[in-house]
Amino acid sequence: MTFTADRLLLFGATGDLSQRMLLPSLCALDADGLLAPDLRIIGTARSELSDLDFRNFAREALEKYLPADRRSGLADFLNRLSFQPLDATDMAGYTALAEKVGTPQHGLAIFLSTAPSLFEPTIKGLQQGGLAGENVRIGLEKPLGVDLGSSCEINDAVAAAFPETRTFRIDHYLGKETVQNLLALRFANILFEPLWNGNYIDHVQITVAETVGLESRIDFYDDAGALRDMVQNHMLQLLALVAMEPPTSFAASGVRDEKVKVLRALRDISANETVTGQYRGGAVNSQIVPGYDDELGRNSSTETFVALKAHVDNWRWRGVPFYLRTGKRLFRRKTEIVVQFREVPHSIFAGARSVPNKLVIGIQPEENISLNLMAKVPGLDREGLTLRSVPLDIAMPDAFIGAHRRIAYERLLLDLIEGDQTLFVRRDEVEAQWSWIDRIRDTWNKEGQTPKEYSAGSWGPSAAIALAERDGVSWHE
Ligand code: BG6
Repeated sequence: MTFTADRLLLFGATGDLSQRMLLPSLCALDADGLLAPDLRIIGTARSELSDLDFRNFAREALEKYLPADRRSGLADFLNRLSFQPLDATDMAGYTALAEKVGTPQHGLAIFLSTAPSLFEPTIKGLQQGGLAGENVRIGLEKPLGVDLGSSCEINDAVAAAFPETRTFRIDHYLGKETVQNLLALRFANILFEPLWNGNYIDHVQITVAETVGLESRIDFYDDAGALRDMVQNHMLQLLALVAMEPPTSFAASGVRDEKVKVLRALRDISANETVTGQYRGGAVNSQIVPGYDDELGRNSSTETFVALKAHVDNWRWRGVPFYLRTGKRLFRRKTEIVVQFREVPHSIFAGARSVPNKLVIGIQPEENISLNLMAKVPGLDREGLTLRSVPLDIAMPDAFIGAHRRIAYERLLLDLIEGDQTLFVRRDEVEAQWSWIDRIRDTWNKEGQTPKEYSAGSWGPSAAIALAERDGVSWHE
């Protein structure tokens, strides 16, 4: 059933994500007139806050995390907010929560941004409190489990109360403008699709480099590691968007059907196709930072970096490696996709150096698209043309002057409220992702693979460079 929710219930409302992303996104949407006038937002968490306390809490978060020019109408936004304290494991509390939510006119959207261990009791509580009816949909923030088994358990618990059509699994990368732009680039232009296969593409690189370290999530991160924290979700979603067949429309089922086919076609990778690393002390952006063990306060074998070479086993991608790398405390923050085309089959310019075309899609911090083309260097060239690779650049902020730079959660929260599942991850996708990741971890365990050291502020262990160089490939820097 499609409905636009007129109640939004936020679990984990006093948490970090809520302060940094959810409340700012909602306030920004409100300032743009994108929230229905009757939408009420109810926050819940363990803290014993009154409505007024929560509004003050939200005001502080907004002043800290939302630029002033996007805060117009702050007072009206705060008036939408109320709060109900709840221990998610205490079933008795859900009656009061349901009373606070009241009776929505159209429907209720729930967003769970809590520890995954609370998902099951929360779902039970929602059922008992009568908050899981047909006009209720649920959004789930990652991590959804730590492996396929635990992910299935969570999904089963959710499915007992909410059918898949009302379950919205968040991968916030899908809310990023440039990630959606990848689909526009591929499917709203005739230029790329005929070349988008192993006949013309040599390889693809996907980099998600971060400069941050552990931040405040010490225990969570040490249990997860880079493979489960970043590759299992964000990077595999990016890979799926690059590799999928054209869907028939930009609708939830078409897009997700195509992505899942790619995820299921991922070939098992062997130990020599992955490299893991863990940072030691070093300097990032001219700041001295401690090593991972020092930040953690103990020794650990968790990887803070992973590079791997993946293959999608289907006709389109035969013989095309996908090199993926992600890590914390790297040289600079950068998320980008590089599509490296093959050489021209025959050069008519004897003696001229020819560089194969390359498409670089910058996702963050800069949002840009750059296509490297060969061009003639000006001059008389009496001894034959001189060629050089030059970029054809589109910087998104310049191409769309005046457009807001939106937080990924703005789009996702609006879609949750309005019921559009296109940018949410379906159960079969999550399970295909976990199944591939579990097989990589099994290989690591079997081979006793341990992370190699790298200095904070570098591009990761040298073995990651060697992984690509063995194939004659250099990481794009
Ligand atoms: C989260 C990971 O999902 O994504 C974090 O848990 C990571 O470890 C973050 O820092 C990166 O998101 P973004 O949007 O800053 O690239």
